[in-house]
Amino acid sequence: MSNSLIPAWLTPPADANALAAGLWPATARRDDSGVLSVGGVSVAQLAAEFGTPLYVYDEDDVRGAARRMRDVFDSAAHAAGTHAHVYYASKAFLSAAVVRWVRDEGLRLDVASSGELEVALAAGMNPAHIGLHGNNKSDAELLRAASVGVGSIVIDSAEEVQRVARAAATVGAVQRVRLRVNSGVHASTHEYLATAREDQKFGVSLDQVASIVAAIRAESSLEFLGLHSHIGSQIFGVAGFREAAARLLTVHADLLATGPVPELNLGGGFGIAYTRADVATDIADIANAMLTDIAGLCAEHGIPVPAIAVEPGRSIVGRGGITLYTVGTIKPVGVTLDDGSTQTRTYVSVDGGMSDNMRTALYKAEYSALLASRASNSEPIVTRIVGKHCESGDIVVLNEFLPGDIHRDDLVAIPATGAYCASLANNYNFLMRPAVVSVRGGEARLMVRRDTVADLLERDMEIGKDSQ
Ligand SMILES: Cc1ncc(COP(=O)(O)O)c(C=O)c1O
Repeated sequence: MSNSLIPAWLTPPADANALAAGLWPATARRDDSGVLSVGGVSVAQLAAEFGTPLYVYDEDDVRGAARRMRDVFDSAAHAAGTHAHVYYASKAFLSAAVVRWVRDEGLRLDVASSGELEVALAAGMNPAHIGLHGNNKSDAELLRAASVGVGSIVIDSAEEVQRVARAAATVGAVQRVRLRVNSGVHASTHEYLATAREDQKFGVSLDQVASIVAAIRAESSLEFLGLHSHIGSQIFGVAGFREAAARLLTVHADLLATGPVPELNLGGGFGIAYTRADVATDIADIANAMLTDIAGLCAEHGIPVPAIAVEPGRSIVGRGGITLYTVGTIKPVGVTLDDGSTQTRTYVSVDGGMSDNMRTALYKAEYSALLASRASNSEPIVTRIVGKHCESGDIVVLNEFLPGDIHRDDLVAIPATGAYCASLANNYNFLMRPAVVSVRGGEARLMVRRDTVADLLERDMEIGKDSQ
């Protein structure tokens, strides 16, 4: 089938009912009746019990990804003569259950606001295993972090040194800090996701490091742990991470001349597959390449290999989460092409949209989709899955082939929505943010309940008052 409405990488699937390799949670299957199940629970049962849209997390998949991340970095670090800490970047998705899963698998936690910090603490995370980020932390956030004893605060600007020092002194603590450096590495990713270019808000430039670290070391309430770099997100390959490590180690080596620098934090950003065309780089390859380079560079600089920290988010929870939607209106739209011919794109509307998955509108992110409530042998058609918001950019999946007999009340499942979907969800058009459930061993558990109408009305302080 040739259709110039779709990108070249998207070809009709050989079997529209098949679960493409690498995209779905580890326990996803189609059962004998053709219904998709995850964690031993069918999507029909999940939709009936919890409604749609619904975020579904495969607990085994998330735990497995966390464990593997820890194992590959542990063994790569061990081979390089050091040890590693893996922080789960909770901005990807945060709830009490996920904090406990990653904690139980031996990970630490990265938070980027006092809200994330409070959820982590309420979930029982050891504060000493929490790192706090943010380019604009308030004094109240710094004070709270220092008073609960977070393991590290990542300083993001020269002016923050004094403010963190003051917060730590106020609570009588010696606060461990890192310094976030903008390494200038241009990782290959969407522009808004790349965070280590020069013209952006995060971190300090390499030439500011020496003076800021001297200022940190001059504060008796601060202890310098080391440099931090996060070069962007959804990065494939290892070149960007290797380059960032090399640039940081040169500065790290200089800093060792004037005091201890026990750690080096290389951030997160490891890419995952969102479509059949994506091939994610194996985490073991990334860990081995990074640590081999680091060991070699340290030998060249004549310095000890520091402890290594990384902060993956997406690569821990991305694949383990899917979103279920119920199909509503279906509209074939004839699109006139440049050559005057017309081709049809079928708009499949679902009961959520940009309020539960902002990534397509925000980054033009590509996703895949599957008819989940039944198998179908109908000829695949070119579809666009759209939401129910008052925006023409309210698109969930830009391009996908779905069976031509797709109809109202079918369930569709979008894979790889475990990261940056629930955490970016909002109430645009006063839609209710979806529930989040976890599945494992045939059981489903409600992790976060769906918003209610009462939630929507509660914050409007004029509702219920006399309308005069
Ligand atoms: C400082 C920092 N660390 C870690 C992450 C996690 O990135 P990812 O989810 O791509 O692994 C981010 C994401 O924006 C970040 O800003």
